[in-house]
Amino acid sequence: MINKNKIFKLKKDRRSFLKLTTTSMATIGSAFAVWPFIDSMNPSADVLALGIKEFDLSNIEEGFSKTFKWRGKPIFIKHRTKQEINEARKVNLSKLKDPQKDEDRVIKPEWLIVVGVCSHLGCIPLGQKKSDTRGDFNGWFCPCHGSHYDTSGRVRKGPAPKNLKVPKYKFINENKIKIG
Ligand code: FES
Repeated sequence: MINKNKIFKLKKDRRSFLKLTTTSMATIGSAFAVWPFIDSMNPSADVLALGIKEFDLSNIEEGFSKTFKWRGKPIFIKHRTKQEINEARKVNLSKLKDPQKDEDRVIKPEWLIVVGVCSHLGCIPLGQKKSDTRGDFNGWFCPCHGSHYDTSGRVRKGPAPKNLKVPKYKFINENKIKIG
């Protein structure tokens, strides 16, 4: 025969079980409700996989450059002056180690966008700060072994074999680009 104490204990256990089940279900339910919201704040998987990133150019004044990071590499974004554009365009291509027209390296003449990694041994050239030396061609200078780049990021002197690389990018509005 079951005594009163046992009946009381059984009822108490049942209540605890029901309480625990209800709480767990509520927690799982709210996790599912919150997930789409959290998920919507992240870039989509294909965007992450491709390393696509947007960069704002609006606060880079003419004559100045900024360095951003993309796929672990420095990206040099330079707002070129008229003089810098003219210097880049008047060059005789036959004099270049890695001949490329300036027109083929930019979408808009005033914006030069290159990966800031020297094509010799991968150092980061100087020339991003106003106080930096910019080499003999007014672009960038790699002090590691003395490579000089012009205002189009083309190698003009020194051991570097190639121009600074232009990443794949496009303008998504007047002041914003998307790289990747
Ligand atoms: S790494 Fe730039 S010149 Fe050697």
